[in-house]
Amino acid sequence: MSTTPNTPTSASREPSCKVSAGPHEAPSSPAGKRPAPPCTLVIFGAGGDLTKRLLMPALYNLAVDGLLDDGMKIIGVNHGERETSVWREDLHKSLQQFAADKASTFHAGKLDDKAWDWVAQRLEYMAGEFETDDTFAKLKQKLDQSPGGNVIFYLAVTARFFKPIVEHLGKAGLLKEGEGSFRRIVIEKPFGTDLASARDLNAHILSYADESQVYRIDHFLGKDTVQSILAVRFANALFEPIWRREYIDSVQITAAETIGVEGRGKFYEQTGAFRDMLPNHLFQLLGMVAMEPPNSFDAEAVRDKKAEISDAIQPLTADDVVFGQYEKGPAGVGYREEPDVAPDSTTETYAAARVYVENWRWAGVPFYLRTGKRLAARRTEISVQLKPVPFRLFRDTPVDALTPNVLTLRIDPAHGTSFDFNVKTPGPVMQIGAVQSSFDYADFFAERANVGYETLLYDCMLGDETLFQRADSIETSWCAVDDVLHPKTGGAMPVHGYAAGSEGPAEADALLARDGHAWRPLKQDAVEKK
Ligand code: BG6
Repeated sequence: MSTTPNTPTSASREPSCKVSAGPHEAPSSPAGKRPAPPCTLVIFGAGGDLTKRLLMPALYNLAVDGLLDDGMKIIGVNHGERETSVWREDLHKSLQQFAADKASTFHAGKLDDKAWDWVAQRLEYMAGEFETDDTFAKLKQKLDQSPGGNVIFYLAVTARFFKPIVEHLGKAGLLKEGEGSFRRIVIEKPFGTDLASARDLNAHILSYADESQVYRIDHFLGKDTVQSILAVRFANALFEPIWRREYIDSVQITAAETIGVEGRGKFYEQTGAFRDMLPNHLFQLLGMVAMEPPNSFDAEAVRDKKAEISDAIQPLTADDVVFGQYEKGPAGVGYREEPDVAPDSTTETYAAARVYVENWRWAGVPFYLRTGKRLAARRTEISVQLKPVPFRLFRDTPVDALTPNVLTLRIDPAHGTSFDFNVKTPGPVMQIGAVQSSFDYADFFAERANVGYETLLYDCMLGDETLFQRADSIETSWCAVDDVLHPKTGGAMPVHGYAAGSEGPAEADALLARDGHAWRPLKQDAVEKK
């Protein structure tokens, strides 16, 4: 999360890499932002979906903003021979399609030809298997043409290739950093499938690279609205004094989707909603909400505070968790009828959990987390509910209950915040009416076709690890859910049905009802209007 130099919120830390002093042909960069240092980006998985849908749009956006150095190169590695010109053309076509598609995250409208040409000229395709020495020897030869150069190896591949690629890079000497230059590895989720596999993967990677060279991505941290949580909390006097157990009753963190498994049946069958979303994306949101203020935006200062939170999460038990699976309903077929899904599958497509952060600030405050596919609405948001005020003042009025104050931070698809509070309704009688005040980013800031990877790529080039996950936090997060994944007593978690297009299984409602709470409805008029 790079901050603009020379502003009161600026990070004190200088990036560890050299900055190009040479001429820069890309469009000029936004005020206060400097172009990233020159580097070669090697993308393993150049033919994959991630490259097409997210990395290329992000690189294009960075080029539009003039944030890439003229000396940048992009080498795409994939199995299968292909001419560079064909790869470029394929990428160009998909970029044009996404740009024109309003439903796509990258709905830039018309492409800026100059920016695309700038990116296209820097693309080079290299055929190679991810597990053979030959690929890495070939790559070394290419990279040796600019010795001592900065290189980022981006692993946009399925998880089974993480270990062999890192091992080959290490053995080929490609991870050795020269004087004043860097070698970095970017690794996507899933980072392991449980505590043991995450530890094993960390140990493997760290036997070839230093922690400072490893950039573990959680794409939720690339979202502006997620980064803004720290701004809302720490740049305003209003929130932080009440941001603690004395005033906060409970927190709900929701990542609800209307889509199903979208042709990812094979992956999803092995993974399920809990592993796919909870110890990573939802815990990241929880960390942003719960962490103590760091002393600066320095990467280690921020990551230390976040690590304290994952460490303070009380290990979840089966009692704290509900699993669900969508069945035929208003939104379509059931999960078991999806392609590549077993007809008797017990994989969960919904997970809800009650989480406690056992520290001085949060002890006793429940954090309710939920995520699921084929739910009633697409909604990623965090709702912070305040404790009730004393009722005494209203006891002689017709008011019999006060609606709780709730601050909602809207992450996706709405971007903004809302606050529920109470006012007197107009008229001669003291009646209370619940109202909502909201802020929408689009009303204040120009919308940008941002896919969420721009900041992550840019920060990686600058050597700013604030938004990337450190080995210890990954492991403590998996540790907190290990008893659910591998229960020492009792069998596998029961999976409850819910209708496709509904609010989720009734058992998830019961989880909160036990504490006298209820989920905020996924279908809410105020938000749906957007
Ligand atoms: C991914 C999960 O990490 O995040 C997907 O694998 C999920 O299953 C996605 O759909 C949600 O991300 P976003 O940014 O669309 O909310």
